[in-house]
Amino acid sequence: MKIIGISGSPRRGNTEWMVKDLLARMAESGVETELILLRKKKIKTCCGCLSCEEGGVNRKGVCRLQDDMQELYPKLLAADGWVIGTPAYFEMLSGLLKNFMDRTCPIWPKLSGKPVVGMAVAEEGIGKAISNIRTYADLCQMQWMGSVIGLATKPGEIAKNEKVKQRLKRLAMKLVRGVQS
Ligand SMILES: Cc1cc2nc3c(=O)[nH]c(=O)nc-3n(C[C@H](O)[C@H](O)[C@H](O)COP(=O)(O)O)c2cc1C
Repeated sequence: MKIIGISGSPRRGNTEWMVKDLLARMAESGVETELILLRKKKIKTCCGCLSCEEGGVNRKGVCRLQDDMQELYPKLLAADGWVIGTPAYFEMLSGLLKNFMDRTCPIWPKLSGKPVVGMAVAEEGIGKAISNIRTYADLCQMQWMGSVIGLATKPGEIAKNEKVKQRLKRLAMKLVRGVQS
């Protein structure tokens, strides 16, 4: 059983801390985890060619753009569940995360039923950041297991928030149950 965590922050900040914390709690339950830091990946913007859509829902899962997505596709498909985190930017998901989502166009029909949780961090207002992740998950027909939000500005600040830590613990357990069922 393997869970993949995806951090959509361009810095080593609060989103990354939350995604890592949730993965660490799942690892305590014996689940294998892997963290994907989008900030460290070279991912080109989707060129909109739609060649990946050939075959409709039975598409081959191939993107013609050669970059780090090529190594990610098999990992994303093989994972039993996903954790997606984003900082709130103008009360929406980060551009880094949106670009990643766009590039999953070749594989999204194969994500159906995969459990997923969302998390977002903002200075004062999360706005639509979680609902953006949820929209993606719903369109991919993934199984939404819940979300955690936290307020923080400087990197590391979120680690002092006991309520967020409690919520992360509960969500980790829920996701473990979700991937086991
Ligand atoms: C471009 C940009 C836009 C932001 N927009 C918002 C916003 O709309 N509302 C808010 O409360 N915080 C906003 N913030 C603050 C971040 O959400 C906050 O610093 C958060 O902790 C960043 O997460 P990170 O530490 O994971 O990078 C913005 C930050 C940046 C860089």
